[in-house]
Amino acid sequence: MSIPETRPRRLRQQPAIRRLVSETRLDPAELVLPMFVREGVSEPVEISSMPGVRQHTVDSAKRAAAEAAAAGIGGVMLFGVPAERDAVGSGATDPDGILNVATRALVAEVGDALVVQTDLCLDEFTDHGHCGVLDDRGRVDNDRTLDRYRDMALAQAESGSALLGLSGMMDGEVAAVRETLDAAGFDDTIILAYSAKFASALYGPFREAVDSQLQGDRRTYQLDPANRREGLREALIDEAEGADIVMVKPAGSFLDVLADVADTVSIPVWAYQVSGEYAMIEAAARQGWIDRRRAIEESVLSIKRAGAEVVLSYWAVELAGWLDEAR
Ligand code: PBG
Repeated sequence: MSIPETRPRRLRQQPAIRRLVSETRLDPAELVLPMFVREGVSEPVEISSMPGVRQHTVDSAKRAAAEAAAAGIGGVMLFGVPAERDAVGSGATDPDGILNVATRALVAEVGDALVVQTDLCLDEFTDHGHCGVLDDRGRVDNDRTLDRYRDMALAQAESGSALLGLSGMMDGEVAAVRETLDAAGFDDTIILAYSAKFASALYGPFREAVDSQLQGDRRTYQLDPANRREGLREALIDEAEGADIVMVKPAGSFLDVLADVADTVSIPVWAYQVSGEYAMIEAAARQGWIDRRRAIEESVLSIKRAGAEVVLSYWAVELAGWLDEAR
């Protein structure tokens, strides 16, 4: 016997063989671009903690969505940034609220080419920044929040959203929204449950992106980053309540949860590469400390390797362009 007995390096010697034995490939079709649309601005506004990402006007969002469609990505996920907020997040259910207006505009523009999706959560619309309504002691009231989500689901479905991203982390939200949609005849409206959504520091830049009013944190509803099994439990509950797709979020620091969920549920599993994951790579690249393109490609590839079938990423369109080049 000579040593080494086995030579795994044999399969790494040329680009052509590396390509043949590659276990994971990215495709533009499995990328979704999150987009922010702001009410009451006439020009797009740059988000300083997310270089390259902007708060769109409805018009610039239409142009960006057309570009996204041309790049061949799978969809866009819309977030609204309202001009005014109140305790119950009235803007979320107002047909003339920014998210619903933007949804109608984008469905008309790109609805055939892309799956136009909407974030279903109150935090952008409340003056306290929480994902639900508060009780008289200032705690997030789960069951009263469900009533707001039911109304929000109807407003979004009526605006033409094909897929509702339930990101509030209230108990029973999938069941409540499914029941309401079905009763109103929206039985084809898809529910994506942000099942395993952790209370993460990596949402920091997003708070600037949506001009969040939050004081404090979301630890009474989002998951403790220490809990792996609880992430799987939440996904199983949402699957049982009728979710069509489940999601893990953030992505890169929760790949173990993602792998567990992908091994266990029988519906599609998506992952959200969040604002902080974006900002960290952009910041390091700006310093010249990492190779930006390689770091981006590796980060998204790793999320897919761990089990995500679709990745929401702020780099979706740029990455799709690179994937096209490589073909
Ligand atoms: C809630 C929501 C958040 C994100 C997506 N949906 C913020 C939060 O829960 O605090 C974060 C996305 C990101 O950081 O990119 N509407």
